[in-house]
Amino acid sequence: MEKNSNFDKLENNYLFTEVFNRKQAYMAAHPDARVLNLGIGDVTLPLPEAVITAMHRAVDELSHRDTFHGYGLEQGCDFLRRAIIEHDYRPLGIELDIEEVFISDGAGSDLGNTSELFSSANRVAVQDPVYPAYVDTNVMAGREIVYMPCHPQNGFAAALPKEHVDLIYLCSPNNPTGTAMTRPQLERFVNYAREEGSIIIFDAAYEVFVDDPEVPHSIYEIEGAQEVAIEIRSYSKTAGFTGVRCGYTVVPKATGLQHMWYRRQCTKYNGTSYISQRGAEATYTAEGRAQVMDHIRYYKQTARLLTEGLKGLGYEVYGGQNAPYIWCKTPQGMGSWEFFDYLLEHYRVVCVPGVGFGRSGEGFVRFSAFSDRADCEEATKRLNRH
Ligand code: MLT
Repeated sequence: MEKNSNFDKLENNYLFTEVFNRKQAYMAAHPDARVLNLGIGDVTLPLPEAVITAMHRAVDELSHRDTFHGYGLEQGCDFLRRAIIEHDYRPLGIELDIEEVFISDGAGSDLGNTSELFSSANRVAVQDPVYPAYVDTNVMAGREIVYMPCHPQNGFAAALPKEHVDLIYLCSPNNPTGTAMTRPQLERFVNYAREEGSIIIFDAAYEVFVDDPEVPHSIYEIEGAQEVAIEIRSYSKTAGFTGVRCGYTVVPKATGLQHMWYRRQCTKYNGTSYISQRGAEATYTAEGRAQVMDHIRYYKQTARLLTEGLKGLGYEVYGGQNAPYIWCKTPQGMGSWEFFDYLLEHYRVVCVPGVGFGRSGEGFVRFSAFSDRADCEEATKRLNRH
């Protein structure tokens, strides 16, 4: 047996595991300290009422012999796939075939799994800094990675790769910088992919936070994108499904990859929980949508509060407007991990070190607005105190 030696190229711990471990170590050493968690982007509000009701109903359905059913379709239930097409895409002027929509157990899995459609000889481009799973997944598969630096000087907008790349991961609104790609910026990438024969994996997990009309919610708003892009979305950040698990992936037939993905899913995936899918469907009712948007407004206010609080304290901050993340420059040239440790030790505030998202993230930290509002207020108060 020969192990996959590509794993040796990874950091010892995944970024969020390392953040968690350091927080736990601090808490173990200081059991009375109230640590404020503005680190991992995990939602804090409970599930919307409409979702809870729908999930209860689904459990009841599975509780009776005459309504019980077992396996569903690997690619997801038609009721949810139809709702997605009708509510997430049609209002944007995008038409999709139901066979192009695949329900998943969240964006995380499919961001990794879709890479199985491509040869390990492919060269991959990622924004830098970016959600670390794109890099880790492709390092595990032995692919070469090309980094597209995003920093304040270029407005966090990646330039096109100078060389040919086969796969491009784009995350907009971006995790971690909290900035979002405008229509012309996205058009440049779609045109590049069409000319080069590349595929874009578009992570739209945070699209619900977009309220700038210049920022597309879906890559398919760009002409020709259905030929070159896979789009991945999730109910995690939209409807509080981080623990429930449900999302979806759109693989248009025009990419030439839809049948491969269908084939892969039939073999390797037994489908998303029926109960989760009924919960997700409920987010498209008028009541469900209103409740979801109440939650998003809450998190957006939290993002504003954090942004203004940090700015008021003299920090250089970015993002937080079309996204739930605030990207903050460390003071006095401190390193990301150094500042992370400093905030934890001195203020008992947890963030995520920017360098964990890529080399261009060094000298930054990320704060998450998915936190409790009172915790955000307390965090800015604590930072002000010293
Ligand atoms: C984050 O903090 O970046 C996210 O919560 C991670 C994720 O969605 O997996």
